[in-house]
Amino acid sequence: MKQLTDTMHIGGLEIQGRIVMPPMATYQCTEEGLVTDPVVDYYRKRAENPHVGLIITEHSYICPQGRAKAKQMSAAGDDCIPGMRRLTDAIHEGGAKVFAQLNHGGSASPWEVTGMQAVAPSALVLPVTPAMGDPDPAEATPAQMQEIVEAFARAAVRAMQAGYDGAEIHAAHGYLLNQFYSPLTNRRSDAYGGTLENRLRLLREVIRAVREAVGAAYPLSVRLGGCDYTQGGNTIQDAAEAAGILSQEAIQMLSITGGMNRYTLPGHTEPGYFAEMSRAVKQAASVPVMVAGGVKTLADAQRLVEEDAADLIGVGRMLIKDPNWEK
Ligand SMILES: Cc1cc2nc3c(=O)[nH]c(=O)nc-3n(C[C@H](O)[C@H](O)[C@H](O)COP(=O)(O)O)c2cc1C
Repeated sequence: MKQLTDTMHIGGLEIQGRIVMPPMATYQCTEEGLVTDPVVDYYRKRAENPHVGLIITEHSYICPQGRAKAKQMSAAGDDCIPGMRRLTDAIHEGGAKVFAQLNHGGSASPWEVTGMQAVAPSALVLPVTPAMGDPDPAEATPAQMQEIVEAFARAAVRAMQAGYDGAEIHAAHGYLLNQFYSPLTNRRSDAYGGTLENRLRLLREVIRAVREAVGAAYPLSVRLGGCDYTQGGNTIQDAAEAAGILSQEAIQMLSITGGMNRYTLPGHTEPGYFAEMSRAVKQAASVPVMVAGGVKTLADAQRLVEEDAADLIGVGRMLIKDPNWEK
């Protein structure tokens, strides 16, 4: 029987057990997005929890235009590397492996944070958390999309240089790559809009550019906001199809969560509230699948693994509340 303590492999990386601390923004960095001592201490304590095999650190912006919040962690310049190195050292000393999560906010990057007009697949305000009073985002041009692809690749190289064991590309929770994937926010009529295949095109270009930049062996995960749970949005069936398409790329893990509804599912708080979707994704994917959402105990996590809902189980808010969760 599958156990939570099973040794797992994400590409060539060995993980002790199936429990992962998913990315959760602390917004405790400096104004320039650099790691601070409180951030290092916060993650060290969670890494010392023996159940946690892997920590994926909070979403870090890949370029200034993709910054979503003040004090968000930066992966946008080489000045972030020394602080990130202190962070990865602390997490490794605590006994866990660590991935960086890389993100571009798209239309969820407000003017007051970036000082710039946002870019998005289409000139539409985000249906969730609209930045009040901002001008509509600009529809991304091919040149801007190319810059974004290159910025992801450069950020992944920084993560590697800073000692992260792998990187995760954020394509969930209503941020840029999720905006391209979701028909609610992508109304393009070019090769980046329309069919599911087209809506995943930019994400696939990002994966390929990152892979090219970090080399064949570096573990890569994609966090996919698989389903929007909203009329006109992506469905669980779309999530499964997307998993099949993404499995053809050189990634080693798929982390499944919500799309435009973000990381909660209205009306649901039960352990594994995204399990119906992750189970469908797991059947279509050829890489380990992670799911987070509502897990409160080790028994909850064990049940999800036995039910084949996922290979890896994220435990988020419980670890925010208590670094010694279930110790
Ligand atoms: C305070 C907070 C910050 C979060 N920040 C991120 C983030 O930076 N990137 C991300 O992909 N998900 C983020 N999430 C979502 C979590 O990774 C996770 O999916 C969610 O909390 C559900 O899991 P849980 O029920 O175990 O908490 C955040 C969640 C919380 C509560």
